[in-house]
Order: sequence, then C-alpha cells, then structure tokens
Amino acid sequence: MTLQNILTEVEDKVLIITINRPEKLNALNAKTIEELHETLLEAENHNEIRTIIITGSGNKSFVAGADIAEFANFSIEQGKQLAATGHFKIFNFIENYSKPVIAAVNGFALGGGLELAMACHIRIASENAKMGLPETSLGVIPGYGGTQRLAQLVGKGKAFEMIVTADMLNAQDAYKWVLVNYVVTQEELLAKCKEVASKVALRSPVAVKTAIKVINAGYNAHVNGFDVEIEEFGKMFGTKDFKEGVKAFLEKRKPSFNGN
Ligand code: COA
Repeated sequence: MTLQNILTEVEDKVLIITINRPEKLNALNAKTIEELHETLLEAENHNEIRTIIITGSGNKSFVAGADIAEFANFSIEQGKQLAATGHFKIFNFIENYSKPVIAAVNGFALGGGLELAMACHIRIASENAKMGLPETSLGVIPGYGGTQRLAQLVGKGKAFEMIVTADMLNAQDAYKWVLVNYVVTQEELLAKCKEVASKVALRSPVAVKTAIKVINAGYNAHVNGFDVEIEEFGKMFGTKDFKEGVKAFLEKRKPSFNGN
C-alpha cells in the first residue's frame, strides 16, 4: 500500500508513525485509518520493532478528530459502520496490540484524536497539548471507544463532565487526571517517548505481550482478569525468554531475549 497520510521511520527498535495531514490538523479520514492499520499489521511481525510511537505532524495538533467533512452526510447505517470499522482497524486493534504503543500527544487530541491516544498503552503529552471529546458540540457522541476508555482512565465523573460539556483539558490538567503519564516540552516529547521505548526494548517481548493481554483482560466484562493472569503466568514458565531471564539473573549478566 502506498502511504499518503502517514510517515514511518524505524529507529532503535522503535517504529515512529507520524500522521501527516497537517493542513487538516491530522484529522483521521478513512484512508489514514487504513494506512495506520496496514502499517501496524505489518510491524507486528517485525521482531526488531519492539515499540510503536504515534504522533502528529507539525507542532499544533496530534489528531483533531475524525474527519468531519468525510462523515457529514452519513446515514445511520454508515455512522454505525464508521464506528465499527474504526474499533476493529485501529482502536481495539491498538489496545490489544502485541507491542506497547505510545501516543506522543504533540498538540490537539480531540474526538477521534483523544480516542486514538486513549487506545494507546501509554500517553505522553507536550505542554501545548489540549485534549477533549467535543463530539456533543457536533450533535454526536464519541464513537471510537471514547465513552468507555475515558471513564476507565479519568473516572466516570470527570468523563461525564468532559463529554457533556465538550470542554478540553490542558496538558497539566490531563496529567492531574492521569490521562497522560508525563508532560514535557514539545522539544523533549519524542525523546521522552523514546526513553520509555528504550526500556521496553530491554524486556522480554513475550512477557511484554502477555502483560498487555492480561492487563486488558481485567477490562473485559466477559472474563475474569485474575483467572487470565493465573493461566498466562503459568504459560510463561514454558518460554525460552523465561529460561533466559532467570539464567541471566543467576549468572549476573544482562538477558538476551529472543521473544519466544
Ligand atoms: N475534521 C476535518 N477537518 C478538520 C478537523 C476535523 N476533525 N479539525 C480541523 N480540521 C480542518 C479545518 O476544517 C481547517 O481546514 P480548512 O483550512 O480547509 O478550512 C483546518 O483543519 C485547520 O483548522 P481550523 O479550525 O482552521 O484551526 P483552528 O486553530 O482555528 O482550530 C480546532 C483548531 C482544533 C479547535 C478546530 O479545528 C476544531 O474544533 N476542530 C474540530 C475538533 C472536533 O470537533 N473533533 C471531533 C470530531 S468528531
């Protein structure tokens, strides 16, 4: 697939994806969603990629939402399909991705932009970032998982307030509400994300992948996260990474994991 709306770069075991529609504040249209999905799908099988960083191009916007112009005339059925496709291709896909995905929130993260950041495992914001779910101001509701993930991250009360008022949080308030893990200057943003990614690169890929699966299990109403943890914990004892990790500890050296 020819990439038109995203830029990709691999550096030190990190795939950096930059959403690149700055003239539209990096709004997510169908083509961008498709390109993101294909790129992530491909990166899943690259053992040398250990972490993904997603950011927006320019210094004004991470992603200013779903592309409003694209869905302006949608029917009920098309609206439902828009949400379902987004969940499947990007938002649930990223949440359940086998490698940690870090959102480098470099400006506006509104609507689908905040939903994208919230689907990521870790969020780091620059000081100028502004985050919100303003969909009710357009006569719609968040449709890319925002009603669920915002409440999980900031609590139900603040999620109700943010969604029904359509207000934005600045970076410091987002930090206060634990919506982002760190706030740094715009100049430091990618470096901070890479610093986190460099730690992931030292850990067992199979343990990292399993940890993501088990943490997510606790947010699935149909399964018991503790049961999943017991099951997956047991399975780790059959992995080469576990044998290597323990052996390296006992031999007082750094482990060399190969991810199985
Ligand atoms: N979808 C489509 N286009 C968008 C967009 C979106 N979500 N957000 C911004 N754009 C476009 C604007 O239409 C404008 O395009 P144009 O120059 O061709 O007219 C361009 O990006 C720049 O945006 P503009 O509104 O002029 O910038 P601003 O600095 O005045 O305002 C925002 C910035 C983010 C406050 C404003 O763009 C905005 O409110 N965007 C929509 C946010 C939203 O509701 N997101 C949820 C969607 S469900």
